[in-house]
Amino acid sequence: MDKLRIGLVGMWGRGQLALWANRPEEGIRIVAGADPSPEAAEKFKGRLGAEIPVYQSHVEMFEKEKLDAVFICSPDFCHEEQACDALSRGISVYLEKPMALSPDGCDRILRTSLKSGAKIFLGHNMRYMSFVQKMKELIDSDAIGQVKAVWCRHFISYGGDAYFRDWHSERKNAVSMLLQKGAHDIDVIHWLAGSYTDTVTGMGGLTLYDACPRRSPSEKGISKFDASHWPPLEQSGFSPVIDIEDQNMILMRLENGVFCSYLQCHFTPDSCRNYTVIGTKGRIENYGDSGEELSIELWNKRRDHFRLHGDETIKIPMEAGGHGGSDEKIVKGFLDYLLLGKKPFTSPVASRYSVATGYCGAESIRNGGQAVRVPKLPKELENAV
Ligand SMILES: NC(=O)c1ccc[n+]([C@@H]2O[C@H](COP(=O)([O-])OP(=O)(O)OC[C@H]3O[C@@H](n4cnc5c(N)ncnc54)[C@H](O)[C@@H]3O)[C@@H](O)[C@H]2O)c1
Repeated sequence: MDKLRIGLVGMWGRGQLALWANRPEEGIRIVAGADPSPEAAEKFKGRLGAEIPVYQSHVEMFEKEKLDAVFICSPDFCHEEQACDALSRGISVYLEKPMALSPDGCDRILRTSLKSGAKIFLGHNMRYMSFVQKMKELIDSDAIGQVKAVWCRHFISYGGDAYFRDWHSERKNAVSMLLQKGAHDIDVIHWLAGSYTDTVTGMGGLTLYDACPRRSPSEKGISKFDASHWPPLEQSGFSPVIDIEDQNMILMRLENGVFCSYLQCHFTPDSCRNYTVIGTKGRIENYGDSGEELSIELWNKRRDHFRLHGDETIKIPMEAGGHGGSDEKIVKGFLDYLLLGKKPFTSPVASRYSVATGYCGAESIRNGGQAVRVPKLPKELENAV
């Protein structure tokens, strides 16, 4: 008798994450998948067995299979509808970020979950990364005093490969890279600062990829990481329609008075998320976000010149597995939440605020940088955890 029967919507690409949940020896099994792509179905069967049922439509899978839970790893524009279709049938959901394409879409998901009692868990795997957890631990242990500012610089070397060749490049599918990529970082900023954004203002634009040769609308957009794709202006095959920005810079004032910034660029030679948190007694900063040379520097003594290393250097050991080992951990977090009621590091309300802030940040960028108030969570959804 299975403890958990799990379905997967969006079977390839990010969908491979769900394979960490397939643990037949523990009575936890992926029993079916749904995806409109025949290639995705073939690859999925290759990993889990030819006999596993595959559906073109997620609704058909929900109707025909008796599922306890589902991983939703389809493109961003599918999230709201597919999550609500699952939750309203009592199926608990692991939903990839961004939660939805608008604050209203997120609120609809939260409302559906509260109504049916089915659980909603968000795929913010950065909260399961060792360096992020260590930064949070240092802040909580008063290593830098009261947090007053959080700044994040986000360098994305693979932006041209991943986001400007297929569905990601259009606002109607992704809204802005402040949701698709920034939802992670805005969520981490909120977590480290202990509050949510109240007001956001931004600047940004499409500054490079609009100058690159495009594929024809009849050709399929392929997003494939390839480190030989350099320099960006010499690349080709980009989407016929690109209306998202390749630079996004937002400033945030949080409800608790902490000031924050998030700067994102999609054509850097290297890749890294670099956070610095400034408190009343010191500052921390991560050097690197994956690989062998990952550390957090802690400066807590005044000296009036630049120092590459802090008063303390905390080395973060390299971990195997996807996204610095966080993929396996977050899937375990989801299973523990369902089976043991263990509180996860992620929160659907926090996820909702990361979408709402990115959404309002994009609105500010597209309207001359005016300050935009982030809509508050409706009162009746406060218990959505
Ligand atoms: N947390 C992370 O680290 C992380 C990393 C990568 C992607 N993601 C998220 O995962 C999601 C998928 O991203 P991706 O890069 O794998 O996208 P993708 O375009 O590769 O699509 C993933 C799968 O969804 C399928 N699909 C397309 N339309 C569908 C539909 N209507 N119903 C069901 N399946 C459908 C595709 O055929 C494919 O198999 C996105 O929301 C993205 O933001 C998260």
